[in-house]
Amino acid sequence: MSAVSNPGNGKITVPDLLQRKSSAAGSSVESKKITCLTAYDYPTARLLDEAGVDVILVGDSLGMVVLGYESTLPVTIEEMLHHTRAVRRGARRALVVADMPFGSFHTDTAESLRNAVRFVKEAGAEAVKVEGGERRLELIARLTEAEIPVMGHVGLTPQSVNALGGYRVQGKTPDAAEQLLRDARAVEASGAFAVVLEAVPRELAAQITRELRIPTIGIGAGPDCDGQILVIHDLLGLTFEGPPKFARQYADVGQIISKAVREYCKDVREGSFPSDAESYHALPSLRDRKKIYIES
Ligand code: KIV
Repeated sequence: MSAVSNPGNGKITVPDLLQRKSSAAGSSVESKKITCLTAYDYPTARLLDEAGVDVILVGDSLGMVVLGYESTLPVTIEEMLHHTRAVRRGARRALVVADMPFGSFHTDTAESLRNAVRFVKEAGAEAVKVEGGERRLELIARLTEAEIPVMGHVGLTPQSVNALGGYRVQGKTPDAAEQLLRDARAVEASGAFAVVLEAVPRELAAQITRELRIPTIGIGAGPDCDGQILVIHDLLGLTFEGPPKFARQYADVGQIISKAVREYCKDVREGSFPSDAESYHALPSLRDRKKIYIES
């Protein structure tokens, strides 16, 4: 028996993603673009995986789009583990990345490492994502040293909403752009295999993408990144506020669900659901009896 994994079986791995960036230069760049989406449950993960998405992120956006919190801050590690397990069961080909929620990597490095290990060991994540740039240098280095691949996340980091004073485009002034560049470089230098650029001017995202050896994954960062990510609820029209400027809504699943549920309610109220064909039947020999079941 060989311990060597089966190359060519289509499974997306961290080295594959790095390889795509290095082989993209000068060749058919479009085919190398990395496709990422969020998912939080088994059926969605399975549909995304079977549709060919490269990376499934169990984002802490879970808190807002699935759990109904006002921000991502209340999301707990137990909630993230629970949903990562479900996604893991639905994904065969895609790389599964789990977001480390607010508070799970903000104390000491040893505690953060223990939390990251839980995502790999208990939930089957193949990598973790941590928000923050220069400030995460030591942490990312420690996690990668412990064989846990890390995806960085700079620009608008929603867990910093209180410090940033809102959800705003980042890197717009020369100083802010310099800081963002330093953050992206720090993430790469500390050993991350990719970095999410969120809500960043496209020109700055393009410059970072040119400079880094690791892939950049954009969300609200323009078309020049090495890959793109969206929150699946924005893509499907399953939010209540409408999609943000940078998201493209490909379907209106919210409307499909509302219509189906209204029809169901109508049919139940009218008595047309369930029909006879949708009912179980007693044996023919018992049908004429007044009481089918004998009381004990
Ligand atoms: O939590 C999330 O879904 C994310 C992506 C938007 C990058 O961090």
